[in-house]
This record gives sequence, structure tokens and C-alpha cells, in this order.
Amino acid sequence: MSDHELRVSKIRNGTVLDHLPGGSALNVLALLGIDGSGGTGVSVAMNIPSDRLGTKDLVKVEERELSQDEVDVLALIAPRATVNIVREYEVTEKNRVERPERVEGVLVCPNSNCITNADEPVHSRFAVLDDGVRCEYCDEIVREGIADHLKVE
Ligand code: CTP
Ligand code: ZN
Repeated sequence: MSDHELRVSKIRNGTVLDHLPGGSALNVLALLGIDGSGGTGVSVAMNIPSDRLGTKDLVKVEERELSQDEVDVLALIAPRATVNIVREYEVTEKNRVERPERVEGVLVCPNSNCITNADEPVHSRFAVLDDGVRCEYCDEIVREGIADHLKVE
């Protein structure tokens, strides 16, 4: 995006999550446990025109460098995301997310009889497939709307 189209100010230090699917930013923030309560800057732009994606969302988290591990889980809802680390206004690292092999404690199994939803719940664990995720306890598969199954803390 050229500078005259800039929607959110550049940041001095932090992480810029770019190329998120249009409309996904709030789910991305929930997934990363970012709710603004820390008092540092969080900027969100949604449904911005993008050459590559049609529309995209953008999230800037100031004063925090998200690790590759933290953002790998993002691949489930934002497979084409770019993670930019910014230091003193310069992008010092640019990484793509990578699909993790499994995600633990992040999703809630949609099968109400699953042991992960029992009274004394077991930590959920899903294997990541090419086209969805599979509960490793009951084999339930989620293909669409994975973000609807995010565990809300
Ligand atoms: N950015 C920022 N603050 C900075 C530097 C960069 O908010 N001090 C943002 C830019 O606005 C952009 C993202 O970080 O959204 C990546 O910056 P840059 O690599 O300079 O942009 P592009 O070349 O457009 O990125 P890409 O090639 O990944 O599309
Ligand atoms: Zn299950």
C-alpha cells in the first residue's frame, strides 16, 4: 500500500500482522489473547483493499514481539498472514505463518460428548489437516468456520 493510502500510523516497536483474511482481525486478536487491557497500542484495520487477497485485515500490536510459535496457530484462520517485527520504525523481520502439526488448548471440540468437554475437561488437542482440524480424542473433524470453535478464555 502506498503511503498516501496509509490507514493506520506506522509503529515504532512491535508486531504487524498483515494479509489477514478480510473480517478475521477480531478472531485473530482473540486467538492471540490480545484484548487491549495491557495498555499498549493495538490498531486494527478491517476489509482493506489488497491486490493479493481482494480484501485484508491488518493488526498492529505495539511494544510486543509475537514469537513464531505464538503466531503459528494463526495459520488456522489466516494461512497467508505475514508477521512483521518492527524495531525503531524499521521492519527487521518478516515471516510467513506455518501450519502447525497440532494445536493444543486453542479450540473447543464441537462434539458435546467428547472427553474434552466433560465435567473435568481434558485439554483439547487437534491434528491439523490440509482442509481442517481433527480432534485427537473423538476424531470429530472441523472443516469450516474454525474460528467459531476458538476457546474463549
Ligand atoms: N509497518 C508499520 N510500522 C513501521 C513499519 C512498517 O506499521 N514502522 C507496517 C506497514 O504499514 C505494513 C507492514 O508493517 O503494513 C509491513 O511493512 P513493509 O514490509 O514496509 O510493507 P510491504 O513491503 O508493503 O509489505 P509486504 O511486502 O509484506 O506486503
Ligand atoms: Zn473431540
